[in-house]
Amino acid sequence: MKYTRKEFFVKTIQSVAVIAVPSLLTSVLESCNNNINGPGNPGSTLANVQGTLSNGQVTVNIDSSSPIAKTGTAAMVNFSNGSLLVDHPSGTSFNALSSICTHQGCQINSYDSGSSQFVCNCHGSRFDVNGNVVQGPAGSPLQKYATQVLNNQLIIKVG
Ligand code: FES
Repeated sequence: MKYTRKEFFVKTIQSVAVIAVPSLLTSVLESCNNNINGPGNPGSTLANVQGTLSNGQVTVNIDSSSPIAKTGTAAMVNFSNGSLLVDHPSGTSFNALSSICTHQGCQINSYDSGSSQFVCNCHGSRFDVNGNVVQGPAGSPLQKYATQVLNNQLIIKVG
């Protein structure tokens, strides 16, 4: 079969497209996937701990049965109005942070114990235990709340 110049040109472009488009799509999708997961350890899903909200304070049991009793641990504290990220760096010292990512509002529920960072698995933002952004795309810190320990109870002031 003989082709005109125009037909030959069109056939050539179609052949190149059939070969190049799937390869290009694969490359673009892999690139997006990397952005979603972000580099580094995605962390482990946090243990859930129940807290009680009363008079602007969330109270959490931290006796030896609590997942955040030991130093170096972290958990998600759930209460009637929401959830908080809590870590226990030492002694009676605790950090309590908003669990809502400042990027696009996903709930953060992972903790990388190796780097002591909370990880948002929607797009890979990472926050230190004071709520500061360690890695974007988030551009603002997580809100931090004051804490106090009293008689095996952690009190987080949210109001
Ligand atoms: S919502 Fe995008 S990184 Fe958390």
